[in-house]
Amino acid sequence: MKTIISLTTPAELETEALVAIVLDHAEKDPTQTNSTDPAQREKNKNAKPQLKIASGDPAVQSVAADLLASGELAGKPFEINLLHKPSGLKAKRLLLLSGGSAKKFSSYDLRRLAGAAVRSLKSRGIRSFAIVAPSTIPAEEAVRAVVEGAHVGNFDSDYYRSDRKDQKIDSLTVVTSGNTDKAVLEKAAGEAQIIGESQNFARDLVNEPSNLMTPTILGERAKKMSQEVGLKCEVYGADKIKELKMGAFWSVAQGSDEPPALIVMTYEPVGAPAKPVLGLVGKGITFDTGGISIKPADGMEKMKYDMAGGATMIGAMRAIALLKPKVKVIGIVCATENMPSGKAQKPGDVQIAMSGKSIEIINTDAEGRLVLADGLFYAKQLGCTHLVDAATLTGAVVVALGYTNAGVFANDDDMYGRFSAANAKAGEKMWRLPLDDEYKENIRSSIADMVNSGGRWGGAVNAAMFLKEFAEETPWIHLDIAGTAWTEEAKPWIAKGPSGIALRSLVEFVKGFAG
Ligand code: BES
Ligand code: MN
Ligand code: ZN
Repeated sequence: MKTIISLTTPAELETEALVAIVLDHAEKDPTQTNSTDPAQREKNKNAKPQLKIASGDPAVQSVAADLLASGELAGKPFEINLLHKPSGLKAKRLLLLSGGSAKKFSSYDLRRLAGAAVRSLKSRGIRSFAIVAPSTIPAEEAVRAVVEGAHVGNFDSDYYRSDRKDQKIDSLTVVTSGNTDKAVLEKAAGEAQIIGESQNFARDLVNEPSNLMTPTILGERAKKMSQEVGLKCEVYGADKIKELKMGAFWSVAQGSDEPPALIVMTYEPVGAPAKPVLGLVGKGITFDTGGISIKPADGMEKMKYDMAGGATMIGAMRAIALLKPKVKVIGIVCATENMPSGKAQKPGDVQIAMSGKSIEIINTDAEGRLVLADGLFYAKQLGCTHLVDAATLTGAVVVALGYTNAGVFANDDDMYGRFSAANAKAGEKMWRLPLDDEYKENIRSSIADMVNSGGRWGGAVNAAMFLKEFAEETPWIHLDIAGTAWTEEAKPWIAKGPSGIALRSLVEFVKGFAG
């Protein structure tokens, strides 16, 4: 999708469709909708929506005036009204898109609205449109949000349907006003486009079924991407994994006929200081059957997305290589299938991780932490001073946070502060979960240094406590994206399927180190 910045008055813009955002200015207090105070309840009930276009252009306001005043619209987020041949506008259509309460409206909402505009217009066969950036959000921030959100909306997962329509928006114009320099906005749009395309690149990888996305193929895709953007990329096989004594990673890989892949992407820009070196480590289980502790058949097909953490890291490295922040970054993906077979590891087996720590395997379905244990330790050996991992690690994080928030864990408050600032900027929902020492009890083994499964209660924390043993003293963030890497049902702003969660936060986080 091409993105264009325009400083023209919206009315003058010739386009297939002009999208204007409608906000509700009613004096309803959105924090008080469930108030127990009868007076407040009455006030909220009677507050009629006060809908206004979020742009100062009088021509756009005028053509929408009657509809907005009619009382026919509730002004709820994502409500859509399409007017053809709007008088006084050069656009062929005017799409009014509601953003809900004006008071609460932020770039987080704008990002989603842009996605919703794309999804609504492309389904009507429209290939190019313009969107008026609301004047309430600083222009540069608005441009980033619109371009990122539009890319999210432009992705569909129905690749293998023979009747796939492959509808896509080819060209997006963001109309802004105010006195921000056009060059600044164009730079912002360019960066947002890199991020949006990288997010969709990651989603493409996740979307592939496991027969078409083996560890070997994932390695090839990482290599091809690396060549295109100028990254160094090595893909190692079983021999190297054994040579490095990655006993935890190998214990998962040994059960599969598909060879594993240890993918290492290196970004070393000229002029970057020797330190920090950021390590991005991804879980790349291209299919998780559970191994000998096999999963139930119901829903097992979804375990093709168990490499989403790895795909996120590959996509993030792509964005980083193109955005060129002055900081060293190493991306590591531990890719393998988790299969039951005559060669598969069994519950009760003891494995020695690369770090030398011993692990008693209680459940072969707790395989993600095994591959990450060696991935994290290897990142440190390669010189990483700060670590972030992303993994579809536990069903328990879905119990804790549902499909809305990813789980964040950190062994260092400064590191968490940096990540959480990046995360807020990127507009992705994540929630910090604890890592108290008490939880370590849950992974105690009677014959080894730890068990790989701490049981049912606090399962997401137990898994993170396990990883912490391998991050050791290095500042580290762990993202459990099991509930958020796959969108269970289509939303106005995003298709069903891979979400690309965490990529934007990771890229912002890396940029934060570059000053
Ligand atoms: N890949 C799964 C976690 C998962 C669950 C991802 C649901 C996406 C959606 C992981 O390897 C796993 O099987 N975890 C087990 C751990 C348990 C055996 C300690 C789980 O969560 O049940
Ligand atoms: Mn598993
Ligand atoms: Zn898994």
